Amino acid sequence: MQPILSLRGVSKTYATGHAALKDVSLEIARGEIFALLGPNGAGKTTLISIICGLVTPTAGTIAAGGHDIIRDYRAARSLIGLVPQELTTDAFETVRATVRLSRGLFGKAPAEAHVEKVLRDLSLWEKRDSRIMTLSGGMKRRVMIAKALSHEPQILFLDEPTAGVDVELRRDMWRVIRDLRDNGVTIILTTHYLEEAEEMADRIGVIRNGELILVERKEDLMRTLGRKELALQLAAPLAEIPAALARYPLALSPDGRRLVYTYTGTGDPTSISPFLQDVAAAGIAFTDLDTEQSSLEEIFVRLVRADA
Ligand SMILES: Nc1ncnc2c1ncn2[C@@H]1O[C@H](COP(=O)(O)OP(=O)(O)OP(=O)(O)O)[C@@H](O)[C@H]1O
Ligand SMILES: [Mg+2]
Repeated sequence: MQPILSLRGVSKTYATGHAALKDVSLEIARGEIFALLGPNGAGKTTLISIICGLVTPTAGTIAAGGHDIIRDYRAARSLIGLVPQELTTDAFETVRATVRLSRGLFGKAPAEAHVEKVLRDLSLWEKRDSRIMTLSGGMKRRVMIAKALSHEPQILFLDEPTAGVDVELRRDMWRVIRDLRDNGVTIILTTHYLEEAEEMADRIGVIRNGELILVERKEDLMRTLGRKELALQLAAPLAEIPAALARYPLALSPDGRRLVYTYTGTGDPTSISPFLQDVAAAGIAFTDLDTEQSSLEEIFVRLVRADA
């Protein structure tokens, strides 16, 4: 199937001479949730701004829904909704007027039913006649999402949608985003909350110093780069790791009661059973066993820390 978004060789060097993006190519399938991760200054907002037509690329081509974003700007832009990283709304307008106006800016005919649905979905209906300046930060963020949805976009960019939002509202937003996806909207989000990407994303892209260093399905990423730990709670303390188990990467807790086997999650289930057989053969009894898998956060930190 044709990707809804396709980027080829996109680069951006700002007037300052800073190369913020270097030869980025990427395809996004219709209906996926794609999380773009990277440290501060990596180039995430630059990339989103280019796709949304706010920043001109130095090189490369981008098509949204098959429309070139430069030659066919209007058609491409009408497919795209953007929730920018910085909150920008007219403080004196009411919530409903802001969303209506936003729709109008895209040249869409008024559709009160759609505006109402968006406001209700985002739990903003009660606040529809409130001025933006009287809202809390989290509510303002919802208004930004409502604005971005006002013209019924097929691709929604969320640049740090939940920065500074409390846990409950963040979960609400996740639900909203999933509902949108279930209604066929393609979602591309950036976040510094790795838990958010772990929870939501189908695929993950990691940007470092303007380079897209990795794009993978979340499950594959967690499996291939994730480390797993199998910990045995021993029936009797060990003074040291027995020679019979020397070939395994093991760690023994200071009290000698917990033996931890670390293995990479390459999806090979056979790595555990020989270990457990050798444990049994060495006469080591255990009372309990637990496993842990590295989080996306740990994987991410390792990825971006690695020398470029
Ligand atoms: N208008 C501009 N002129 C010059 N340099 C810019 C401009 N906008 C961004 N940059 C630089 O480009 C780099 C990438 O910035 P960008 O905002 O894309 O990063 P980001 O990944 O979104 O970071 P954050 O996580 O902090 O939002 C940074 O070094 C930034 O200073
Ligand atoms: Mg940014």
